[in-house]
Amino acid sequence: MRDYTYGAELLVLYLASTMKKNIFAGLLCAVAVLSVNVWSQTRRHDEIMKDVNATYEKLKKSLDAQKDKEAFEDAAKLQKLFKEVEDFWTPFDTKDAIEAARRAQNSFAALSRSVQVNNFQQAVMTYNTAAQFCRDCHSVHRIQAADKSYLIKP
Ligand code: HEC
Repeated sequence: MRDYTYGAELLVLYLASTMKKNIFAGLLCAVAVLSVNVWSQTRRHDEIMKDVNATYEKLKKSLDAQKDKEAFEDAAKLQKLFKEVEDFWTPFDTKDAIEAARRAQNSFAALSRSVQVNNFQQAVMTYNTAAQFCRDCHSVHRIQAADKSYLIKP
């Protein structure tokens, strides 16, 4: 939350300087912009995660069936999704989460290279070790609310 507070201060300073006549309206705007921002960020994260999960499961099926084209596409998509995850965590400065997201990107990049040379055995090994990055991050940064939904813990 620290970064959002900092962002809010900047925003308030900016609005105060440009809207001298009506600082109060400026503050209201700042609060509105902030809440939308925080909300959309958290929304986006679980959308990414649902996508990650579906693609990760799909990749397993593609690998089992040795469908190289599909497997390549799934791995490439996961690489992109984990870049989004990395970008999400960057403003929080949550180093281990950023690291897990980066390692996941590297794994899926390596996996797509294995698939390209038809080395499915190696690709499956990489697939299985990648599950570690999900666990590493979830065990520290994912908490379950009373209603069983998941929340972010930076
Ligand atoms: C950098 C941290 C991080 C990594 C890496 C990560 N996750 Fe997550 N994941 C989270 C957090 C935090 C939540 C809880 C907040 C949310 O739902 O977005 C979550 C939630 C989820 C959810 C629940 C989504 C929902 O709300 O229904 C699934 C499913 C999931 N992750 C799957 C995975 C899988 C599979 C991997 C690995 C291939 C993975 N995650 C890797 C941080 C991570």
